[in-house]
Amino acid sequence: MELAERIRQVAREAEEALMACDDPGELEALRVKYLGRKGALTLLLREIGKLPPEERPEAGRAGSEAKRRLEGLLEEKREALAKKAKRRALDVTLPGRRPPLGKRHPLTQIIDEIVDIFRGMGFEVVEGPEIETEYHNFDALNTPPDHPARDLHDTFYVEDGRLLRTHTSPVQIRVMESRRPPLRIISPGRCYRNDTPDATHSPIFHQVEGLYVDKDVSFADLKGVIAAFARQMFGPDVKVRFRPDFFPFTEPSAEYSFSCVFCKGKGCRVCKYTGWLEISGAGMVDPEVFKNVGYDPEEYTGFAFGMGVERLAMLKYGITDIRLFLENDLRFLEQF
Ligand code: PHE
Repeated sequence: MELAERIRQVAREAEEALMACDDPGELEALRVKYLGRKGALTLLLREIGKLPPEERPEAGRAGSEAKRRLEGLLEEKREALAKKAKRRALDVTLPGRRPPLGKRHPLTQIIDEIVDIFRGMGFEVVEGPEIETEYHNFDALNTPPDHPARDLHDTFYVEDGRLLRTHTSPVQIRVMESRRPPLRIISPGRCYRNDTPDATHSPIFHQVEGLYVDKDVSFADLKGVIAAFARQMFGPDVKVRFRPDFFPFTEPSAEYSFSCVFCKGKGCRVCKYTGWLEISGAGMVDPEVFKNVGYDPEEYTGFAFGMGVERLAMLKYGITDIRLFLENDLRFLEQF
């Protein structure tokens, strides 16, 4: 038989054996048997050189084709067997692996909740810059040049007289400067004060500002909106209290509190046995502020309020140290 034919025959035989093979050890044995240094095909290929020149091309072609084919098959089979082995190693009785779940930061959750409640009452969300002008943060809000809040001890100043806003109230000014009443907006955002951090003070904190301007808006409207918010946030039994206070940009001004959500007003450590938890300030927009934005105080009235986001979150979740919100400790964050 011609060499080319013998090569093809051995290749067919090897191919059949490879196809039937089901075991990595056996596969290696087959490789040695056919393609090894003394393998059947290897030995035949060596004979090609001894052929008369006119027979060499055909045998050469048959040889290299057989070799390429077998090597390809061998590789395919090796992969298939490895995959199979892996499947066999899978322990189907193992419990599933739980991928770590990302969540919104607790402050974001509270802000979203606050925003949802006010949206339901027809308020629109507006945001303002964290780097503010002294004008928007203080002057336009009727805060006199010598007011202690402007002090370096309380306010972080940056370049060219700008500052990190100390409250969200400058957004009131920005909105009124660019729009006409009726206005019903809330503005959540980050604020900065030069405070030494402790359990209840953080130099970075969040507020939600509220502003309602129209004809004939009264203090009763303010109380109604705050009370409706309190009930939706903390349940139907929560009580709301307003007490006189002072802010340069509202007149009259008040601080408002909710009945303690922990002791239901009876008195406990969290509310320092007063039964009340202070939330923030509020009041009727001062006529001076209206004049600064070009509104006629004879035509329009309005109310504004602030809201301490950290404080609400601490109440809702029973958190006793405000610094936890900024530390990004996963053991803390994972609980919400
Ligand atoms: N901006 C005030 C503060 O930071 C809160 C406030 C807002 C008071 C709106 C009155 C009206 O304390």
